Amino acid sequence: MAFTYTKLALLSITIFISIFLETSISFDIEKPFLHCFSSIVRNSNPTEEIVLTQNSSSYESLLQSSIRNTRFLDSSVLKPNLIVTPQELSHVQAAITCSVKQGLQVRVRSGGHDYEGLSYISNVPFLIIDLSNFRSISIDIEDESAWVQSGATLGELYYAIANQSNVHAFPAGSCPTVGIGGHFSGGGFSTIFRKHGLAADHVIDAQIIDVNGKILNRNLMGEDLFWAIKGGGGSSFGVITSWKVKLVHVPPKVTIFDLPKKLDQNVSEIFQKWQTIAHKLPGELFLHSVMGVSNSPKHGGKSVIVSFTGLYLGIAENLLPLMQSNFAELGLRRDDCTEMNWIQSVLYLAGYPINASLNVLLQRNQTFGSFKAKSDYVNEPIPRAGLEGLWKMLLEEDSPLLILTPYGGRMSEISESETPFPHRNKSIFGIQYLVNWDKNEETKMHVEWMRRLYAYMKPYVSKNPRGAYLNYRDLDIGVNRGNTSYEEAKCWGLKYFKSNFERPARVKAQVDPSNFFRHEQSIPPLSD
Ligand code: FDA
Repeated sequence: MAFTYTKLALLSITIFISIFLETSISFDIEKPFLHCFSSIVRNSNPTEEIVLTQNSSSYESLLQSSIRNTRFLDSSVLKPNLIVTPQELSHVQAAITCSVKQGLQVRVRSGGHDYEGLSYISNVPFLIIDLSNFRSISIDIEDESAWVQSGATLGELYYAIANQSNVHAFPAGSCPTVGIGGHFSGGGFSTIFRKHGLAADHVIDAQIIDVNGKILNRNLMGEDLFWAIKGGGGSSFGVITSWKVKLVHVPPKVTIFDLPKKLDQNVSEIFQKWQTIAHKLPGELFLHSVMGVSNSPKHGGKSVIVSFTGLYLGIAENLLPLMQSNFAELGLRRDDCTEMNWIQSVLYLAGYPINASLNVLLQRNQTFGSFKAKSDYVNEPIPRAGLEGLWKMLLEEDSPLLILTPYGGRMSEISESETPFPHRNKSIFGIQYLVNWDKNEETKMHVEWMRRLYAYMKPYVSKNPRGAYLNYRDLDIGVNRGNTSYEEAKCWGLKYFKSNFERPARVKAQVDPSNFFRHEQSIPPLSD
């Protein structure tokens, strides 16, 4: 009994000491930071409104407001000591200057969709610069361009364009809550990218605040840094506050269709054909395939389903002969097609009815449950035997999802070194592997399934290096430890950037030689 009391007493003392240490560590960080911040930012809103400590009443709600992957709501995940919510550029400058002074790590968050939570998670004490107040959008329809701040969402950008024109658009992703800051700096592909290329291909100017707190536009930052932030990931280089983009033209009517096929509907043959044809179709036609499983006892239990979903930049009358001559096996009929304008196709692909109010595009709060994702690029069609094994693997999971995106079109006309994003003319399609689960379920089982699937797919996807998409961040492919060198970082860097990896590392050495802006997959500085 005495032994138990002694153990209990020791345990209580340990808990007390760790709470005391934690409190005093966070106090040691907060106090000097707040002092530094308020000494720089004068005659402005009170510091407490801009810098939230863990004791601030809105700290928790702001932190959680853009955590999209509920996997990272776990209580074991370290929370930021401070969250800065800048309202003007001087607040971002002060946040950087004071963090550099204190050696405090910074995470930059725009929309919070990073698949591994790198915009709001760190293993060491840190601060988040949350750009959700930086979301103004200014469209110049005469010039066919727009300035958009990083904290705005894709939905807000699409809404602003649609308010001025129904024949202009911007080629960025399908999910309206995705943030401009992460999306543009990682590349950004869309349902119109076979016609127009990536979001990053349309960036014509940007504003970044560097490690010295300097505000730089394209002219001042120089072409190397400007090149690096268009696909190399912004978070290695500074805080990008806004972007100037060129808008693109879309016809007044586009056509959408969605044809789901089950295994007993010749899906293997149809998919085989899709693999050989989807990247060769004209750029106006985007036809992706989405693999999942249905679990309906009424329809014979669990079955693999492959949906062929298309967006055609034009009317159904022109689409049908195109499909008939290139992909008759899919059996597309006029009744399967719905004509609409481009912004309605945005609603449709985001899961809303096409007559929904455009205001739904302004909603910012959305989570996607707990998930793990990975990506690949495919250069040769997957053989039939490979597909049979893939179907079996899909049936092992409850909520698997594979999204296969055809390349070709405009993507194969742009050189691989045009931006850090290198997956251009050799790729016939990209794959995103996703698995979702309820946050109360055990994570390990689903993540292990995903890793087995990734291992299974190795023979069928790009090699030396195996490709991956930066915007589908995956820490399994390698992480920085301490002061990781360029050579060590190649294990993940070559997958995202192929032979483009060296250039952003040299840019990093010029603009942030002390490697202040760093995280698990930040680009390390490389100098001679
Ligand atoms: P978040 O704020 O988490 O930032 C992502 C990364 O960029 C972090 O490392 C962050 O530090 C850094 N960063 C963000 N803002 C910065 C800034 N201003 N300055 C410097 N660094 C900054 N992709 C795609 O190409 N096409 C698509 O259709 C989709 N669809 C899609 C749907 C859903 C549901 C999800 C969850 C994700 C996608 N994506 C996508 C992937 C998406 O493009 C990717 O996750 C982006 O990085 C998200 O950008 P956020 O600003 O939202 O993320």
